[in-house]
This record gives sequence, structure tokens and C-alpha cells, in this order.
Amino acid sequence: MKTTKIRWGILSTGGIARRFAGSLRKSVTGVLTAVGSRSLPSAEAFAREFGPARAHGDYESLIMDPEIDAVYIAPPHPMHREWATRCAEAGKAILCEKPAGMNSAELREMLAAAQANGVFFMEAFMYRCHPQTKLLRETLRKDLIGPVRMIHATFSYPAANYDPRERRYARDLGGGSILDVGCYGVSMSRLIAGELSGRHFAEPLQVKGCARLEPQEKTDLTAAALLHFEDGLIAMVQSGVALKGENAVRIEGELGSITVGSPWAVRHGESFLRLTQYRSGEITTKIATDPHDDLYAHEIDEVGRALASGEKESPEMCWKDSLGNAAVLDAWLREAGVSYAD
Ligand SMILES: NC(=O)c1ccc[n+]([C@@H]2O[C@H](COP(=O)([O-])OP(=O)(O)OC[C@H]3O[C@@H](n4cnc5c(N)ncnc54)[C@H](OP(=O)(O)O)[C@@H]3O)[C@@H](O)[C@H]2O)c1
Repeated sequence: MKTTKIRWGILSTGGIARRFAGSLRKSVTGVLTAVGSRSLPSAEAFAREFGPARAHGDYESLIMDPEIDAVYIAPPHPMHREWATRCAEAGKAILCEKPAGMNSAELREMLAAAQANGVFFMEAFMYRCHPQTKLLRETLRKDLIGPVRMIHATFSYPAANYDPRERRYARDLGGGSILDVGCYGVSMSRLIAGELSGRHFAEPLQVKGCARLEPQEKTDLTAAALLHFEDGLIAMVQSGVALKGENAVRIEGELGSITVGSPWAVRHGESFLRLTQYRSGEITTKIATDPHDDLYAHEIDEVGRALASGEKESPEMCWKDSLGNAAVLDAWLREAGVSYAD
């Protein structure tokens, strides 16, 4: 029987594909219908665990499956361009893991395919769809901390079972912290700069960057960028795939600050917005957020909402927003001396 829910196909059976499949069960609008893997036994095991779902032993069969409406693209970043383009040509709605392309040129190609085929496309910055981020936007609009001068945004994690051939480090699999997690700090800084100037996002006028490179792969293990926005607003973005970081966002204004305790993976017990105002002594207010909600279910339901209303992009991460993010990442990689060209 045909369901009215969005019938999802998941492309790959890796770490984030598993998280997404778990969240699909908690979503209101989506249902897992099929999974595709390079290995049929892997797809079958995934379908058994998260299904009922159809199992395909290659990606092509998944995207051609007539029973699915939308595809979640979750292999390593260098494969996003090809499979997003093929999904668009097959008429499927696309939720593509970040970074959507390896660079702006790839992303433009993917978006051109989505546009030509009239399909929905969204880059999967899940935190953008979480109520905590909406609360941060509202808090910024209230102008509670005076003129904002600095943003600090960090996302880095330690190297567990470090292997330079693994996707987080290997050059041919798009390894490196700038693309893996630096993209979050860049997108958050652009969001904050946007809200402060009455827009949904804003672009920096200048990007400076540096990095420590992996000795063999020449991908970046730890990196930092300075983004210089209008009116002298500066963002300092830190990323790492071999260093445990604080993973917070701090927004410093002349009359106070806002800290987001767990901005990306919004977790119970760690998630909060802390507002400190200096105007009348120092007053700190902790604004409760609701981290009980399932992070990825919000993203899935945002896609469901957009598809139900016939939208081809989501306001939470529209195409222009993704293109702006990719342009900053291009500049940061260039500054840091990281290249994925052969
Ligand atoms: N939004 C988030 O919260 C979040 C979190 C983590 C990762 N991500 C993004 O999701 C993507 C995948 O990350 P992950 O952590 O899930 O990676 P992972 O655990 O290594 O899984 C990647 C999967 O991609 C498939 N694959 C296809 N070609 C491959 C190749 N040559 N080498 C290795 N795997 C290959 C494999 O699935 P099959 O064998 O089934 O084909 C593999 O299991 C990345 O682009 C990453 O940036 C997003």
C-alpha cells in the first residue's frame, strides 16, 4: 500500500547512515524504504536492523528504485557530487551530507542538476534544523549583548584508532578537518553574522587560514580560520580530527556574551545557551534548550515539510547558503595549503 510518508533510500551503510536510519523511526514524515551499499550483505544486515526495507547491493539500484522519493547521500565527501547528480537525474529529492561537494565547482554542478531536474536539494547541516539553533537566532535578534565583535566556533574530535588511510585522514577520501568539521564553524559564523545584520546568513569579506598537515596524506589534522565580516565582526573558527576540542560557540558583544554549549550534536546534559549581560553588574541567564529531541529527526522532518509544500530548497540551508559556505571552505583550504587535486 502506498504510504503518504516520504519514502527514504539511504545511500551507504556507514556511521552516519546508521544514525540517520535510527532517527527516521522517530521522524513524523519519513520512513525507511530502501538502503544501498557497495556490498549486498551489508545492505541486507542494515535493512534487517533498521527496516523493513529493500536492500540493494549497489548505489545505482538504490537511486533507480521506483519505491523511493528521497535519497540520503552518506558516503565519503568525494562521492557526493556523482551520486547527488545521479539522484537528480533519477528525479529523487536529495539530502546530501556535508560538505555537499569537495569545492564550490562541484557544488555548482550538483545544484545545476537539481535545478535542471526540478528536484529538492539540501546539504545536511542537521544542527540548522534543531530548535536550539532557532532559539539562538531569536536570541541574537533581541540585541541583548550590544555590538557583537567576536565569534569563536570550534569543532574538533580526538583521533580514535588513528589510521591515515581512513576517510577522516586519507586525501583520496576527502580527509581533513576543514571539510569534515570546519564546515560547521564556518556555517555557524555566517549564520550569526547574518542574523546580526537582519539576514539569514552573511558572507565574510576576507578569509585567513592555516593548518597542521598529516605527514603522508597532507590533509589537515588541526586548522584555524579567521573570517572578517562587515562592520569589523571577526569569527575565529577551529577544526580538528586529531584533537579533542571544547566544541562550543561563543559570541562576544560589548555588553555581554552568548555561549552555545553543544552547538552541533545537541546533546542532553550538555546543551544550553548561556547569556551573560554586563550592563547592570554581571547577570548570567541560562536559557533551557530541549536536547531530548532527536537531532536528525528534525532534519528529516524539515525535508518532509519542504517536500509537502513543493519547495526545492529549505530556508534552513538554502542553495545560496551552501554555495557561500563552500566558497569560504575553498579559501580556507587554499590558505592552509591543502589540495585535493591529483
Ligand atoms: N551530519 C553529521 O552529523 C555527520 C556525521 C558524520 C559524518 N557525516 C558525513 O557523512 C559522510 C560519511 O561519513 P561517515 O562518518 O558515516 O563515514 P564512514 O563511517 O566511513 O562510512 C562511509 C560509508 O561510505 C561508503 N563508501 C563508499 N565508498 C567508500 C570508500 N571508498 N571508502 C570508504 N567508504 C566508502 C561505505 O558504505 P557501503 O560500504 O555501505 O557502501 C561506508 O560505510 C561524510 O561526508 C561526512 O562528512 C555527517
